[in-house]
Amino acid sequence: MSKNTFTFINNRTGKKYDFDILDATRGPSVVDISTFYKKTGMFTFDVGFTSTASCSSEITFIDGEKGELRYRGLTIEELAQNHSYLEVCYMLLNGKLPNADELLGFDLELRHRSFLDEDLKKLIDSFPDRAHPMAILSSGVSALSSFHFEHLDIEDKEENQEMARRIIAKIPTIAAFSFRKSLGIPMIYPDIDRSFTENFLYMLRAYPGGKMKRTKEGSREIRDIEIKALDTIFTLHADHEQNASTTTVRNVASTGAHPYAAISSGISALWGRAHGGANESVIAQLEMIGEVKNVDKFIEKAKDPNDNFRLMGFGHRVYKNFDPRAKVLKSLQDQLKDELNLDSKLMEIATKIEEIALKDEYFISRNLYPNIDFYSGVILTALRIDRPMFTPIFVIGRTVGWITQLMELQGSKEFKIARPRQLYIGK
Ligand code: SDX
Repeated sequence: MSKNTFTFINNRTGKKYDFDILDATRGPSVVDISTFYKKTGMFTFDVGFTSTASCSSEITFIDGEKGELRYRGLTIEELAQNHSYLEVCYMLLNGKLPNADELLGFDLELRHRSFLDEDLKKLIDSFPDRAHPMAILSSGVSALSSFHFEHLDIEDKEENQEMARRIIAKIPTIAAFSFRKSLGIPMIYPDIDRSFTENFLYMLRAYPGGKMKRTKEGSREIRDIEIKALDTIFTLHADHEQNASTTTVRNVASTGAHPYAAISSGISALWGRAHGGANESVIAQLEMIGEVKNVDKFIEKAKDPNDNFRLMGFGHRVYKNFDPRAKVLKSLQDQLKDELNLDSKLMEIATKIEEIALKDEYFISRNLYPNIDFYSGVILTALRIDRPMFTPIFVIGRTVGWITQLMELQGSKEFKIARPRQLYIGK
């Protein structure tokens, strides 16, 4: 009996079946069950894929027990502390951090691609003012394929790099335009003299006509500390292994659909409140709780099996420990408390929730800890970013991860259409 096989025994028939064990460079090994149905005539069953690896990947590693996250082998703490979001984007796409020239070139490539076709701007303008920015974002990204017929050849590496730069550069503009549209005020074109993250804040905040000086103070100006905070938030959201929206992107790409369709589908999947939509729901929930004295009542609601109320920003499919990104955001909150006068009341309620939940048997026994969404909303609120823009900001950060995962799939021998089976329980 080989050490590299996993033997299943069907106790109904007494038959034994050997399947190969494939070892990871980090984390759990896997049992390759791709021939399971052919050999046994049965399917495996794993709702929500809690124990299923859908692919092999070199991009991101998560150790849920330890609360560890690495992009291309580097820890999220090291990256958030010492590198800009653009350096992280380059590293995810290319497998290594850029040198100064590579970073400069990448930065310029993105700045020159941040503009939108005027007809795409008209499409965004055609949405009703009350449209949620996520609806505009997913439509706008899918529509990009109508303006860029070239660079869709998924077999060509350079074409893919061009497509990647284009989507990463244009999504912040589509997001900012959708925000301005929701306010009924003129859209602000990108300013190629500003960095990726500063430019996004500029497109959100500038007066019509684009007038805005860069000063340290003042309500509408953009401060370095705000750029650094948002840049860190983008980095923390850049990728996260095979989460629901990344799985959606891979599944859509596996049909041979073009990258814009795959990324647009990822945006739609991220919108759900169990996933990227949680950051918006956390703030709404903190405001609904309203006072520290109400926290206990809502903790009891979250524990009540007959009440579908859940503590937004708590729990995670993979992390059974603190989400390391939440830890980075929590220390960022502490650093920014005075500089950005964070909403102390919201922070007080959040701290109280965390304090009680982390001592409560219900949460401890289910390994429920604060996740990235629990803290991001307070900082985004302090950056004077409106709540409907929270999930679009998650999209801006995550787009590079989706594209990197999509390109990895397209370039791998695992590129085959995703088509799971089922347990039929019908007539
Ligand atoms: C993100 O996958 C990723 O990597 C996602 C993400 C990324 O970067 O891409 O990390 C981003 O989506 C973070 C998660 C944001 N979502 C939320 O904060 C929403 C609140 N959290 C839950 O909805 C939930 O925790 C999930 C969706 C995050 C995880 O759900 P699972 O893994 O399917 O867990 P489960 O629903 O099976 O819960 C296990 C138990 C259940 O109780 P029992 O049935 O065992 O009695 O824990 C309970 C759940 O009721 N539970 C909660 C809870 N989360 C789980 N109870 C109260 N409040 C919660 N938040």
